[in-house]
Order: sequence, then structure tokens, then C-alpha cells
Amino acid sequence: MLPLPRHAVLGNERSVVDLDSVETSLHPSRTDLGAEGYELLIEAGGTAIVAATEHGLWNGHCTLRQLMAVDGSAPHAHVIDTPRFAWRGAMLDVARHFFTVDEVKRFISLISRYKLNRLHLHLTDDQGWRLDIPGWPALARHGGSTATNGDPGGYYTLDDWREIVHHGERHFVTVVPEIDMPGHTNAALASVSELNVDGVCPPLYTGKQVGFSSLRMHLPATERFVHDVVRTLAENTPGPWLHIGGDEAHSTDHAEYVEFIELLQREVAATGKRMVAWEEAGAAPLHRDTVVQHWLSTDKVAAAPAGVGVVLSPASHTYLDMRHDEDDPLGRRWAGDIDVDAAYGWDPVDVVPGLAADRIVGVEAPLWTEKVPTFDAVEHLCFPRLLCLAEVGWTPQPMRQWDDFRVRLQHETNRLAMEGVNVHRSKLL
Ligand code: ACM
Repeated sequence: MLPLPRHAVLGNERSVVDLDSVETSLHPSRTDLGAEGYELLIEAGGTAIVAATEHGLWNGHCTLRQLMAVDGSAPHAHVIDTPRFAWRGAMLDVARHFFTVDEVKRFISLISRYKLNRLHLHLTDDQGWRLDIPGWPALARHGGSTATNGDPGGYYTLDDWREIVHHGERHFVTVVPEIDMPGHTNAALASVSELNVDGVCPPLYTGKQVGFSSLRMHLPATERFVHDVVRTLAENTPGPWLHIGGDEAHSTDHAEYVEFIELLQREVAATGKRMVAWEEAGAAPLHRDTVVQHWLSTDKVAAAPAGVGVVLSPASHTYLDMRHDEDDPLGRRWAGDIDVDAAYGWDPVDVVPGLAADRIVGVEAPLWTEKVPTFDAVEHLCFPRLLCLAEVGWTPQPMRQWDDFRVRLQHETNRLAMEGVNVHRSKLL
């Protein structure tokens, strides 16, 4: 079963489980189970799940399904289980390549089976702007018309967006939208002339370089643009988080960068949401309720103001766009090969030296899609590696053992393959 429960006694006897007659009970008084925990009992007489919340019941069902074999039987078991971290996420870059509403919904359904509870959608970049913003029609219609390599573009209407976030809610996955600013903004600059210092739109961009584009803080249109984009996101996103990017702003002057992050922080706070930003934003005076997302430089995380929470996405363990091994036809190499052992074999508290454990909000695995043009390729790069991240985020370190996980991962990979998911077949399984 994945992830490994905190207290699990599995018997040798088995019974066939009828999923329609599982007895589920909500007991808000079970505060020991927290917001996501559950207790699961599988006996000859029947199966029961208890939790303090609907999310806890969902998680109990996830474990039950993983325990069940193809013949419908499961071992008699008593499980009491709560997660190590609150934020257990995956990121999908729909800007470099566009993925349809149905593909994003399939992605949500798949990750939710492993108790992952955040989907961070990277909605904008140099190569594409993917969300319609009222009052700024060219952003999606022109800026969304391209993708990397000249592949087809696309964008989500606000109705599409609500369908995605609603699917997330039904699967206990909170969608975290990212609009990347002030860098990674060529698609916006190519769509709105007033966002450019010379008033002239640059051409659309379909290459793979980063760090060449920037919004400009003191243009009259910039503040109105930021305001409208942040408002639109806030009004159409039920979750509490808005991600404003902030990474690799190599063509933004440092003082202007800091001012920009402060502007974004004010705008996000005014909507009542909490800001998330990549680690580079640690250079700005961040509020304590902001979260920074580590990907490359532990120094940048360490520079963030005390108290700011941290989501950990260390590239060498979590970047799903890296190839699995030297025979992998897909994937990049700059952060090293990441097979399932590397995806599993890290402890979040070891990543940033000196970072207090209580500042770690959780873990997330990003899939950047410069070289990922199809949803088949998304599945190949994400599964089963995302299952490794699911257990890193859920299970206390002393209970994690590669040898034991490997067997469970093998079973679950086979199950996904049987269901038609384009899993990668690691040589280690
Ligand atoms: C990143 O990989 N630029 C966050």
C-alpha cells in the first residue's frame, strides 16, 4: 500500500472487500486523526473507515484500494494513519506545452489516488499564456496561441478553469495556480503593447531559453495588469494559495525585482489569499504567511525571512522532467538522472541546512514540459515517480524503507499499467 501508514497491522487472512458496503463514519471528535488522517479496519465481518473529515475518509479509501488485490481481496488490517506534511503536491507546466481540461482532470484523478493534495499549475511562461483574463483578451488568444517548438497552443476559459478546480475539490486536490512574474513573461509582452517600455510587442517565442523577458515595474499598465490578473485568479480559485512565480528573473534589475515581489505580495494579500513564490523571492521582505518553493539554491531559501514556510522541490530528487536513466528516450539531464530510488531516497529535513523542521510545509514534484509534448509523455515521466514523492510527503522517515517500498511500488506500477497508464518501467522494480 502507498504511502505506508503510521500504524498498520496486516494479518495473514484475507477477505473480499465490497467497496459499496464499506462502513464509513465521520467523527469530528477524532482530533487525533487531524485534517487528513483515518482509521481503517478490514475484518472478515466487513470493512470500516473512520475519520474526522471527508478528506480523511477519502484517504482511507485510497489505502483500502491499494491493499486490494485484483481478485478484490485485502488482508485483514488495522491502520491508523496521518500525514507527515500538509502540502504534498505535483506541478504540471501547461505553458510550455498545453494540456486539455480532460488531460488535467485525468492528472488530478491519478495523483489523488496517492493522497497527493496539491496540483500546482504553471499557467504562464515565455512560450504561452493559458488563462483567459477578462479585460485582457489578447493574453490568452494571442499569447496562448503557441507552445514550445511551434507545437499547438491553447488556453482555458474561466469556465474551463472552474471545471478543473471543481474536479480538484471532488478529489481533495487543491489547485494552486501560478502566473510567473516578473520574468518568464514573453507571452504577455507579445500580447499587450503597453507592457513594453518601447510600446512595441516582441514576437511570440517558441524556443527553450529562459531569463530574457521581464515585466517593468513603473509602466502605467503594469500595476493594472497585475491587479486584474491576481483578482481574476483569486475570484475563480477556491483554494487559499496563489503562486506568483518569481524565478529566474535574470533580466530584471535587483531593486526592481524586490519592488515587484512586494507589489505582488500586496495584491495577493488584498484578495485574502496566501502567496507562494519560487525561492528567488526570498530576497524580498516577505510576510510570514508567504511560502517559498525551493528548487535549486538552498542559500536563497536560507535568505528568506524567518518564519516563512517552505515547500521543497529539490531538483535532484523531484524534477520529473529529468530522465530516469541513460536509456530513457524522454527527459533532460541537468539535475542528474532520477530513477525511483533517487525519487524516494531523500529526507525533507536534510535539504536546507539549518532550516527548522517546523518551517517545512511540504514537498512537491514539478514537471516542466519544454520537451514533453504529449500526455503520454507526461504519464511516462510522472508514473511511478510521483508515488515516491507521495510517500516522502506522507510517511515519517523512520518508517520508510526502500526494500519494503520497492515491492509496494512494483505492485502499484503494475496496477497503473493494467489500467492503461503509460508508466515507465524502471530497471529497479
Ligand atoms: C524553475 O525550475 N525555474 C523553478
